[in-house]
Amino acid sequence: MSGHDRVQLWDKILPDQPINNDHYAASAEAYHRLLFQEIVRTSGLKVPTEDFKLELSDKVPYEAMASSPVGLRFLQLLVKMTGAKRVLEIGAFIGLSAMSMARALPKGGEVVTIEKFDHFARIARNNFNHNGLGDRITLMEGDAFAVIDKLPKDKPFDMIFIDGNKERYAHYFQALEPLLRPGGLAVIDDSLFHGDVLNPLPQSEKGAGVKAFLDVAAECKDWLRLLVPISNGTMLMIKPGA
Ligand SMILES: C[S@@+](CC[C@H](N)C(=O)[O-])C[C@H]1O[C@@H](n2cnc3c(N)ncnc32)[C@H](O)[C@@H]1O
Repeated sequence: MSGHDRVQLWDKILPDQPINNDHYAASAEAYHRLLFQEIVRTSGLKVPTEDFKLELSDKVPYEAMASSPVGLRFLQLLVKMTGAKRVLEIGAFIGLSAMSMARALPKGGEVVTIEKFDHFARIARNNFNHNGLGDRITLMEGDAFAVIDKLPKDKPFDMIFIDGNKERYAHYFQALEPLLRPGGLAVIDDSLFHGDVLNPLPQSEKGAGVKAFLDVAAECKDWLRLLVPISNGTMLMIKPGA
């Protein structure tokens, strides 16, 4: 029996699992930095402070809170690949994901993004304007829970990106699903929530919220879907009925 006969399906999900990096020869500590550098080089990514004129928050570093350059490019590809014209986001932070998606929109497209906290909303709005994207992004300030109710029911979205407070993920998905057109794409960030969703009982309220969403997703049997093990887990779900 060759070594590969013993490979299990879960052995080859991530690029840092032994079977997927067993030709890598340098130090283990350097691996993720080199992996990132190679993705940046081959994909032409830039760090956000070079890619955008960026006002930053003095409260939360963007490296911790915003999608990484890899996640931002992934979102852009999703917008392009689906041809999405109207995109809804929950959780703007300083606007990086909204601006990245807006750059991928076709002419006349729009990103609507919801942000609860004034501090982030103000910075996001400045960033949209300073990067010439203010006309393609509508920022709605307030708790997404309340703002969702105010969204017009007759203007469906082609793509929704859920990246707000994790405790409410299941609620957001259920409330937004009617606003997603048939064939539209739902993208749910942080769907593994640092591994907490794999605990029999999640250890945090956020993890429990994400797990509750995953349980809903598991029952969406007529949606084409995949929990992609990129970053902190990104659930992709295509709404049936197109
Ligand atoms: C992970 S950050 C979003 C990052 C951003 N989407 C990106 O990729 O650059 C989550 C954001 O959701 C916002 N948020 C948290 N609770 C919210 C709520 N109830 N309604 C709207 N926004 C909320 C937070 O203030 C924060 O800015």
